Amino acid sequence: MSLYSDKVMDHFEHPRNVGVIEDADGVGEVGNPLCGDIMKMYLKIEDDRIADVKFKTFGCGSAIATSSMATELIKGKTLEEALDLTNKAVVEALDGLPARKIHCSVLAEDAIKAALVDYYTRSGREMPESLVGFEPHED
Ligand code: FES
Repeated sequence: MSLYSDKVMDHFEHPRNVGVIEDADGVGEVGNPLCGDIMKMYLKIEDDRIADVKFKTFGCGSAIATSSMATELIKGKTLEEALDLTNKAVVEALDGLPARKIHCSVLAEDAIKAALVDYYTRSGREMPESLVGFEPHED
């Protein structure tokens, strides 16, 4: 039996929204110093919605699957909904991950938050409270 759900395997083998948005409104890059994996998220924002999102992940299969699922979960959603996305919701949407792979999903949540911080900083809009002082997780 595989350690990984069918959904994880599907998003790993056929990741959604891979790529770069050249004229992105927000870009976030995070890395996990322990495993060395890196994730970069690009957001296009229109009318307070995530009009488009793309990612590039140099990382493990779970990092790829969680970035893919995270982009699917926020695409077309409002900024507030994107702000509320947690790594838990990503893991649930993938029907679970092995315990020692949970940190990979944290990278996905952090990459989106980092891209949102970049968006609010660049646009000069007031930073939502939940993003003030945001620091990516270190483990
Ligand atoms: Fe590092 Fe998965 S092992 S993100």
